[in-house]
Parts: sequence; C-alpha cells; structure tokens
Amino acid sequence: MEKLVSLCKRRGIIFQSSEIYGGLSSCWDYGPLGAEMKRNLKEAWWQKVVRERKDIVGLDASILMHSKVWEASGHVESFSDPMVDCRACRRRFRADDVEGDRCPVCGGELTDARQFNLMFKTFMGPVEEDSAVVYLRPETAQGIFVNFANVQQSMRMKLPFGIAQIGKAFRNEITPGNFIFRTREFEQMEIEYFVVPGTDEEWHRRWIEERLQWYIDLGLREDRLRLRPHGEDELAHYAKSCVDIEYLFPFGWAELEGIANRTDYDLRRHSEYSGRRLDYYDEESGKRVVPYVIEPSGGVDRALLAFLVDAYDEEEVRGEVRVVLRLHPKLAPITVGVFPLVRRDGMPEKALEIEEILRPHFNVFYDEKDSIGRRYRRMDEVGTPYGVTVDSQTMQDDTVTVRDRDSMEQERVHIRELADYIREQISSWRRPEHITEEVWV
Ligand code: GAP
Repeated sequence: MEKLVSLCKRRGIIFQSSEIYGGLSSCWDYGPLGAEMKRNLKEAWWQKVVRERKDIVGLDASILMHSKVWEASGHVESFSDPMVDCRACRRRFRADDVEGDRCPVCGGELTDARQFNLMFKTFMGPVEEDSAVVYLRPETAQGIFVNFANVQQSMRMKLPFGIAQIGKAFRNEITPGNFIFRTREFEQMEIEYFVVPGTDEEWHRRWIEERLQWYIDLGLREDRLRLRPHGEDELAHYAKSCVDIEYLFPFGWAELEGIANRTDYDLRRHSEYSGRRLDYYDEESGKRVVPYVIEPSGGVDRALLAFLVDAYDEEEVRGEVRVVLRLHPKLAPITVGVFPLVRRDGMPEKALEIEEILRPHFNVFYDEKDSIGRRYRRMDEVGTPYGVTVDSQTMQDDTVTVRDRDSMEQERVHIRELADYIREQISSWRRPEHITEEVWV
C-alpha cells in the first residue's frame, strides 16, 4: 500500500486533500490522472448497466434532500455505529473494533458504548434551527426511491426495471482509513432494481453473478474476489438479505460492493411518510403491487483502489525494476503515449501530427523528454497500455511502432490504420498470465 500511495502522489493520481495546510484526515483529491481513471471507471459501469440495457435508466438526484426522506428511510433512527471513547487519551473507537473494556492504544478506561449517527447534518438557509436541518446523503439510493413514480411514469417503465445513479455520499465514519478505502466523502454507483414480489430471490442471484463478472471483465484477478453473505446480525435495517463482493486488499478481505434485497421497505416507508402512492399497476393482472428492490451498491473509490492494487506489478527488466500498472486499457488514465524516437530529423513534428490524429479518439500523451526507455517506463508506471513511436522508418513509409505495455513487444502499423489497430487491441485485451503473484496477507 505504501508503494501505491506514493506512486499515486508522485504521478498525479491521488493527493491528500488540503495538503498545504497539513491535510484533512481521510479526504483525498484525485489528480489529473486519477480524475481520468475515475471517469473511465464510472463510464465503464454506466455503459454496462445503463446504456447496454433496455430495462435500466439513469438518474442524477440532488445531494440535499427533504429531511423527512431520512426519517422515512430509517437513517435518522438507525444509521449509527456504537462508539466508545478513551477517558485517558480521548481516542475514539467503533465499539465493535475493540476487544475488552480498555483502550487498545493506551490501556485507559473506556466509556460505555453509545450510538453515533453517521449522517452529516447542516442547515438550509440563514437560520440554524431544527426546521432548517438537512443531511448530506449517506447513500444515493434514496434519491432513486423518492423518484420512483416520476421515472416509472415518465419513461413508461415496466417491471422488472432499474434506476441507476452515480454520485457523492457522505458518512461521518468513526474510523476512516486505508487510503481511499473508507473515507467520509466518497462516491457510490447504485442500482435500484424493481421486481415483482416473489421473483426477488431469483433476481438477487442474477445480480450477484452479473456484478461479480463486471469486476472480472475489467481485469480483477478472480482469486482475489469472493462473495460473502451477511449474517443476520450485520444486515442493514432495510435488508432481508445481502451478499458482499469482497476483494483481497493488502490489508485483508474487504467489501467492494454489497448486493442487497431491500424488499418493499423503502417504497412503503416513503409512501407512508409522504402520503403519495408509490406502487405499480400491472396491466396483465389488473392489480397494484409494491415492487421489491434488489440493490447492487458499489463504491467508486473502493473499486478504483482495488483496480490499482490489482494492477500494480514490479518486474526485473535488464537488471532494473520496472513498475507497471497492468490496468485494463478502458480504465487506464492515458490510452496512448506518442513519442519521437529522437528530437531531430522531423520526428517531433511527425509525432505531434500523430498526436492530433489520435486525440479525438483516445486520451493521448505526447512526450519527447529523456531517452525512449525512460519515457516507456514513465508510461508503464501509470498504466498507459500503448506507446506509439516515430522513428527513421516512419519518415520514409509512414509506419510507426506500437509498443504493448504488458509484453513490451512492438508491432509496425501504418499511421492510416493506427486508430483502428488500437481500438482492436483495447477490445481484445486480456490480463497477462505471467503477472507476478504477490501474496498480500
Ligand atoms: N445503498 C446501500 C449502501 O449504501 P453500503 O454497503 O453502506 O450500502 C455501498 O455502501 C458501497 O459504498 C460499499 O460497498 C462501498 O463500496 C461504498 N462505501 C460505503 N461506505 C464507504 C466509505 N466510508 N468510504 C468509501 N466507500 C464507501
């Protein structure tokens, strides 16, 4: 993890938030390359679950919502963790992280556990009074539930159908940590998939498989992924059952995404609290039903961390350590590096022309500084899958070499065919077999 955190900082992927003021605990900023990678990740999700499906539509609801939403959803009452404080050193812990009744750091006496609500509270408007209280949403899901009827009617959706959303969520976590794994501000990718009651368990199974496959297709190693059903005692207040997709991070197995069966809990509660009908008229049976909901809910930042961890590799090449991020080309922040072999003989001008040809199609980076070997290494380190080099032959026949990040092999391709060639390489990419297997735990 240390190597990855330092690579992320050095190469403009992730920075500590407010660093010049000493940083703000557990808050992180995505740098230019991190922002690109995060966009690619969200795009891959949206493409798979919205654009490629007829039965799911997207939504972009506001972060601030009526405070009644959080009463109806049960978050005001139940979205809390038990917390204990050390009377001696004043450190604060989640009660379930502490064994016994003494402080794990200084051995001091601990207070009794009390419930700590994880929602961030603020006030809307100039007056700080109870009626002005609003919360920063702790999950994007509620924006979907309160818009159930709007979406269903405006888009004439028929059961089963889903609504998908990507957006920020906020939780005042007692013990954030592990880089971007657990933070107080993060992004979620959530689907609420509405089904006919009675078909919910079958749909739950299907969504578990579907979501697991998405991570595998984007390159995560299968042996670092597992499914873990929740025990009765850890189910959220709204869930009948839940299965987590877990990844083997350097700090152990941990949740990437939860796929819950939320039953009709949310629609019924919002209907009750708002007085509005939130059900579905089934034309075939002539009956009204309150749909059940299957919810695949993943974290953008956690997924990004898993993809980075999984992609990180070091290998020895000609007596030197090569650091390489073997990211799926669809996730890599830069897709193509363009280089003149040397800074003379018209090669930089030719390479700049190629950069312009490729720019509308891919995220391209031009580099002419240092030896070609060093430039390749810089690209390997940030996971750039393809390197296009202009050499003396290019000046004669308009062909370039295309270097593959994983195999380091090069092929000669005509400039005219370059964009198609790269597109073809992206769609046929497979994780290399020979990747170094490091044992994390
Ligand atoms: N709507 C359901 C829901 O929010 P959750 O299991 O609490 O369920 C879903 O959260 C996903 O959001 C998690 O699997 C995780 O990827 C991400 N997530 C939750 N809390 C997080 C945090 N503090 N920091 C980063 N990601 C978080």
